[in-house]
Amino acid sequence: MTEEKLLDVIGLKTYFYTLAGVVQAVDGINLDIMKGETLGIVGESGSGKTVTVLSILRIIPPPGKIISGKILYKNEDLMTKKESEMLDIRGKEIAMSFQDPTTSLNPVFTIGDQIIEVIKRHQKVESKEEAVKRTIDLLKEVGISDPQSKIWHYPWEFSGGMKQRIAFARAIACRPQLLFADEPTTSLDVTIQAQILDFLRDLKKTFNMTLVLISHDMGVIYEMADRIAVLYAGRNCETADRDTIFKNPRHPYTKALMTSVPRIGTTIDELKTIPGEIPDLVYPPAGCRFHPRCQYAKPICSKEIPIYKDSGDGHFIACHRWREIE
Ligand SMILES: Nc1ncnc2c1ncn2[C@@H]1O[C@H](COP(=O)(O)OP(=O)(O)OP(=O)(O)O)[C@@H](O)[C@H]1O
Ligand code: SF4
Ligand SMILES: [Mg+2]
Repeated sequence: MTEEKLLDVIGLKTYFYTLAGVVQAVDGINLDIMKGETLGIVGESGSGKTVTVLSILRIIPPPGKIISGKILYKNEDLMTKKESEMLDIRGKEIAMSFQDPTTSLNPVFTIGDQIIEVIKRHQKVESKEEAVKRTIDLLKEVGISDPQSKIWHYPWEFSGGMKQRIAFARAIACRPQLLFADEPTTSLDVTIQAQILDFLRDLKKTFNMTLVLISHDMGVIYEMADRIAVLYAGRNCETADRDTIFKNPRHPYTKALMTSVPRIGTTIDELKTIPGEIPDLVYPPAGCRFHPRCQYAKPICSKEIPIYKDSGDGHFIACHRWREIE
């Protein structure tokens, strides 16, 4: 792993302007991603993982809007790019496999057409035959049997797990430098999960790809991630290397989550030993958003937002009291 920063997200805020009020979904998130590493992102449902990635790619659907922040990719702020420039970046430089492949694949085109479109946009191909061949190879790589005939099938002809693999094949079609995989193994059986994880490892090794892995499966995160960022209610809690997060966490939320080193198949929700629910982000708690559920909360916690900062050795924490708690 090199120490070159590939992506640096600073103070990202993305809100949704709904009839029920303003959903403060991502409220000042920071993420730095080093070239070649695998960063795991964890947090309960609704913590802002997907919205963060959609913001980085600048594909937030209405009524959402990026309010502020910098998204530095190779030192250039993606927030200042024109849409035409973003079209060149998406898929080729930075790609995402979506959490819900049912909505990310277009039902009126064959899966082959959808993958070929990405290949033709970003890569030099001599002929349609060459693009077809590459697509067949990709489908084979992600474990689709009989890809020569399946390539001309429509998304609705596949099961949920198969659709997920097809969406995944499309995301990696142009060998992006940075891949966001949002729950890539959810709904797949264990054998296919293992195949996908091996495939990701190979991709990383062969193309020096940088991977951001979002998963509820703490076993997958433990197996794959070099570093882990823990989010809660649209903000950072803690970021550190994998072993520190699992064995020596400092933030009360991470401490409560990481009671044991899980095996593949253990979801974050099963690890949860914390009473209460993630807050309504239209009316989030003042100060530290975790304070209503935190056993260590003091009056300052409901008044002041804890600053997310380096506690030493690149171990970042947002908590007023982590030193006392230790
Ligand atoms: N289109 C939208 N309109 C309104 N609110 C939204 C929209 N999309 C997301 N949100 C809200 O933004 C917050 C963060 O959602 P996000 O999908 O990023 O969570 P997540 O961490 O990816 O959760 P999960 O683990 O369930 O995938 C949630 O409160 C969600 O309800
Ligand atoms: S800032 Fe306070 S409420 Fe928040 S995690 Fe730390 S101790 Fe708990
Ligand atoms: Mg999500």
